[in-house]
Amino acid sequence: MATMPARANLSIKKDSSMASHKLFLLPGDGIGPEVMGEVKKLIAWFNARGIASFEVEEGLVGGAAYDAHGEAISDADMDRAQASDAVIFGAVGGPKWDGVPYDKRPEAGLLRLRKDMVLYANLRPAIVYPALADASSLKRELVEGLDILILRELTGGVYFGQPKEITDLGNGQKRAVDTQVYDSYEIDRIARVAFELARTRRNQVCSMEKHNVMKSGVLWKEVVIETHKKGFEDVELSHMLADAGGMQLVRNPKQFDVIVTDNLFGDILSDVAAMLTGSLGMLPSASLGAADEKTGRRKALYEPVHGSAPDIAGKGLANPIAMIASFAMALKYSFALGNWADKVDTAIAATLAKNLRTGDIMQPGMTQVGTGEMGDAVIAELEAAA
Ligand code: IPM
Ligand code: MN
Repeated sequence: MATMPARANLSIKKDSSMASHKLFLLPGDGIGPEVMGEVKKLIAWFNARGIASFEVEEGLVGGAAYDAHGEAISDADMDRAQASDAVIFGAVGGPKWDGVPYDKRPEAGLLRLRKDMVLYANLRPAIVYPALADASSLKRELVEGLDILILRELTGGVYFGQPKEITDLGNGQKRAVDTQVYDSYEIDRIARVAFELARTRRNQVCSMEKHNVMKSGVLWKEVVIETHKKGFEDVELSHMLADAGGMQLVRNPKQFDVIVTDNLFGDILSDVAAMLTGSLGMLPSASLGAADEKTGRRKALYEPVHGSAPDIAGKGLANPIAMIASFAMALKYSFALGNWADKVDTAIAATLAKNLRTGDIMQPGMTQVGTGEMGDAVIAELEAAA
């Protein structure tokens, strides 16, 4: 007799009522506030249409928070993030804060949100929109139709392991230590999410680590294999050393479906995957915590993969698509509005098909537009399709 497939409970209960959803916006630094402005338009559109009822609060993170109260995020804003149904995050950092103490640097605000909210599962899809296949640095045939998902473990590994310090050895030398550490439960829970997500896609998971040089890699592989046996055998599982994985991502990216990997490898490999799509300005992400036992809802934060791009900040040039697509991920993973998430993605594709481009994805013969025009065009496509 076939056993019931195990579930990581990634789906959330359908919210048919018009219960209001609490969004906590953290625009952050650089282009963060500009791209967030386009999401605010989208939120207003959903509210006005009566599709959902979003309540919006806004806080400070990164350099903006440091300038206001000397911390990369305040305790009060952490509380509001914890109490929200979803955090929508822009970007943090910039040269202005290069000199601030390490524990108050802009990135510390983002890392605290991830750690304190236990957002261990970071979903980074890399999708090539048909209109952008020529914007990739790889040949069109290698990336056309690409649709892969990097699942990055987000609350463990070398980002958070202790000790993490620089000590003075007293002989004119210093020693820096970062600690790569994983407990089996951390590997098990991210593997479950990987298998569960694969089932909604092409049913393949490739796990990446470096068991040839790292004990954490040995345990990673062992636990992924064990978890796979606990009711996920219908999903095809393969393993790759992370360096070979990086090479395969640029050699033949379409061989992958879901890639599951640790925090640091996931950071690097997701930037590689992002660039396959033509621009970092295109890629959204979702960071999810464990499902609440009663409601099934997961703590969640949605953010574009790109950074704060201080060089173009404040000029209305930034590409808002990654931020808009991140909000679409919130519709899908936090609010059971997957059909609307698909419509937003279709509206993005339609906008690109009309040859509108921000500077980062500009090509000869296309029409260059700014942040606001791009956001308006996506909403116009959505409106036309609704
Ligand atoms: C990312 C970023 C962050 C990370 C930085 C800003 C701390 O590069 O989300 O990929 O390294 O995780
Ligand atoms: Mn990164």
